[in-house]
Amino acid sequence: MKRIGMLTSGGDCQALNATMRGVVKGLFNSLSDVEIYGFEEGYKGLIYGNYRLLSARDFSGILTQGGTIIGSSRQPFKLMRVPDENGLDKVEAMKQNYHKLRLDCLVILGGNGTQKTANLLREEGLNVIHLPKTIDNDIYGTDLTFGYQTAINIATECIDCIHTTASSHGRCFIVEVMGHKVGWLTLNAGIAGGADIILLPEIPYDLDKVCEAIEKRHKSGKKFTILAVAEGAVSKEMAALDKKERAKAMEKMLKRYPSISYKLAEEITERTGAEVRVTVPGHTQRGGSPCAFDRVLSTRLGAYAAQCIIKEQYGIMVAVVDNQIKKVKLSECAGKLKSVSPDDQTIMLAKSIGISFGD
Ligand code: F6P
Repeated sequence: MKRIGMLTSGGDCQALNATMRGVVKGLFNSLSDVEIYGFEEGYKGLIYGNYRLLSARDFSGILTQGGTIIGSSRQPFKLMRVPDENGLDKVEAMKQNYHKLRLDCLVILGGNGTQKTANLLREEGLNVIHLPKTIDNDIYGTDLTFGYQTAINIATECIDCIHTTASSHGRCFIVEVMGHKVGWLTLNAGIAGGADIILLPEIPYDLDKVCEAIEKRHKSGKKFTILAVAEGAVSKEMAALDKKERAKAMEKMLKRYPSISYKLAEEITERTGAEVRVTVPGHTQRGGSPCAFDRVLSTRLGAYAAQCIIKEQYGIMVAVVDNQIKKVKLSECAGKLKSVSPDDQTIMLAKSIGISFGD
């Protein structure tokens, strides 16, 4: 008999259900006696003992379904050691609920913060397996995360739609793509959508260079320009500030503009006279059905996680390394971020065809 706890934590994405389905199908296909406990709304469910006993049937028909059938919530890692408003020790509560249900293992689907808490639970003696979820693709130790490719497709479609209207009106358009800390999604959707300028958190931009790129296009007869801008894009001036000053400057900026793109739009108009519009696809990038690539990836990751459970291999993230599904020790990847290197070959090649990164 295997008793497995499962939770999905942090911002959702499209292939959470597909991944859980892979795990559960893999288990039921090999074992005759399995119990799956789904903790509701991520770590919250594990802390407060909110769970449901799920059957194989619960995971049937969910391959194409976005969201998560067990719900999710953000429970910041930095608050895990801080007692809740009633003085409850969250880590102890999670351990107690794990032991009360006599679980063999916890399967935890989530991003970086989720992974840090998974590692904390490992250090506290629980058996855990982490599955890398995020549209940001910023988890260290895995080449890919599920949700990422679907989000690229959605953001690309958004840029495609903007292209036609930008060209009709001869306007400048900023499409703001998700990603506060890293720019993988913006980089790939930007290239796929044929953006002329791509601004990433990892490459602080110079407004002069951005405006130069727009004017260069204009002079060559191109009436419109598309900018793919990451939520976390920063100007060179902002990047030069220390952490505290930067947070202050950011707060001030957000009092005046909904996001960096609106500030940039105003600055571009001031400098170049161009008419600029901003489009923010926002959470649509995390919604809807997973694309075929993510369905396959999730099924592979989930099925591999099931094999790890059967072999009792814990304390790991199930990762993609050189297109192979592998185990990576949580102790080696938790707390690290996978950012875009400004020297990344894709960036170099994009620059070689004239895409500006504002640097
Ligand atoms: O981490 C995934 C992500 O979608 C980021 O790209 C984005 O910056 C953030 O979550 C948005 O978070 P929330 O859903 O809490 O607004």
